[in-house]
Amino acid sequence: MAAALFAWPQRLQLFRALRLAQSLPAINLNVTGAAMVATEAEFDNAKDKVKTLKNDPGNEVKLKMYALFKQATQGPCSSPKPSMLDFVNKAKWEAWNSLGKTSKEEARQKYVDLVQTLDSTEVPQQRKATATEDVKSSFQTLIVTTENNITTIMLNRPAKKNAISFTMYEEIMKALEQAAKDDSALTVFTGKGDHYCSGNDLSNFTDIGPEGMEQKSKNSGGLLKRYISHYIDFPKPLIGVINGPAVGVAVTVLGLFDIVYSTDKATFHTPFSQLGQSPEGCSSYTFPKIMGTAKANEVLLFNKILTAAQACELGLVTEVFPDSTFQKEVWKRLHIYAKLPKNSLALSKQLIRGVEKETLHAVNAQECERLVERWLSEDCMSAIMNFFEKKSKL
Ligand code: COA
Repeated sequence: MAAALFAWPQRLQLFRALRLAQSLPAINLNVTGAAMVATEAEFDNAKDKVKTLKNDPGNEVKLKMYALFKQATQGPCSSPKPSMLDFVNKAKWEAWNSLGKTSKEEARQKYVDLVQTLDSTEVPQQRKATATEDVKSSFQTLIVTTENNITTIMLNRPAKKNAISFTMYEEIMKALEQAAKDDSALTVFTGKGDHYCSGNDLSNFTDIGPEGMEQKSKNSGGLLKRYISHYIDFPKPLIGVINGPAVGVAVTVLGLFDIVYSTDKATFHTPFSQLGQSPEGCSSYTFPKIMGTAKANEVLLFNKILTAAQACELGLVTEVFPDSTFQKEVWKRLHIYAKLPKNSLALSKQLIRGVEKETLHAVNAQECERLVERWLSEDCMSAIMNFFEKKSKL
């Protein structure tokens, strides 16, 4: 065998170069249109950041970085193709050449984006999570733990069916920011008690301060937009472990999750029209895409409550488990998944979701704008008053 002619280090280099060359077609360097253009200063910062990365991003990513760097600084590849036997330089040349006529500006932006992604998925070297470590005990409405490479964000207002109060919105965003940076591979959402989550805490609407209704509505729109953005931008696999009924925004954001496991006791309900409101969580885009428009309309317009089996059939839920074995089976599976290489999981998730990020942010902005109007409507006010009036009569 030809490889036997090489000494060990050379064989290793040859092997790596061959793998690089073989893997090239799988790397999509011609990612479509970046909307912004990074400045020279941002590009220089990214160059410096590369030197401080602690984790080796792997050869494929390094090759991609190399190609974007060359394109950004020298433009399209015009040097002659290295010989067949010059494996490493041939792989580099092919990566650069595959960028074709991509402009220097676009390559610069993509280089900056790639470095940012690597930086955000950096695994801190020193920090080791201990079993059942409570990551942040400062949360009032959540229990957040990291164990066996999994960060779990458990909604913790069981007496209110885990309704999302203003405090909980802020805490979830904080927990997601921390989970994005911690050394876990997966982030799991679940609920404490018999419900997963009853959606927006309806008393968020009744608690009007001196700012008045209109300003309150605008502030809430801003909060919701930030909240949903945290899911759109979350860099690691996000998994829903749906332990019971889910309502409203707790359902709509599931379209932004990467996997959703559900007990057969769960139901999925988005009672927007009933409440004089309109869809949020990017569901006006993700649900028709996931379920098909005709099915999504029944859910989003006509408040159809889905059983777990129906949600699974429509593609919102990945798999349904009998309630008696739900926790055991799901966690067994998640523990296996969490042992996979975390950087690879994060980068793959970002590749899958990255294509749509801009669209999702635009949809989110539009949905929140509509809601700010809807929250001020007569329909919405009376539906919320009805909910609390019915409660007080019981
Ligand atoms: N906002 C505020 N409070 C809520 C709530 C919500 N979204 N969901 C539940 N609660 C409160 C109830 O008011 C009740 O409080 P109380 O004990 O002080 O009276 C407590 O949680 C338990 O809820 P209850 O309605 O008694 O439980 P249930 O098992 O009969 O019904 C739900 C559970 C989720 C079906 C029902 O509470 C519900 O429909 N909630 C509203 C869901 C909703 O419309 N969300 C907004 C979507 S946009």
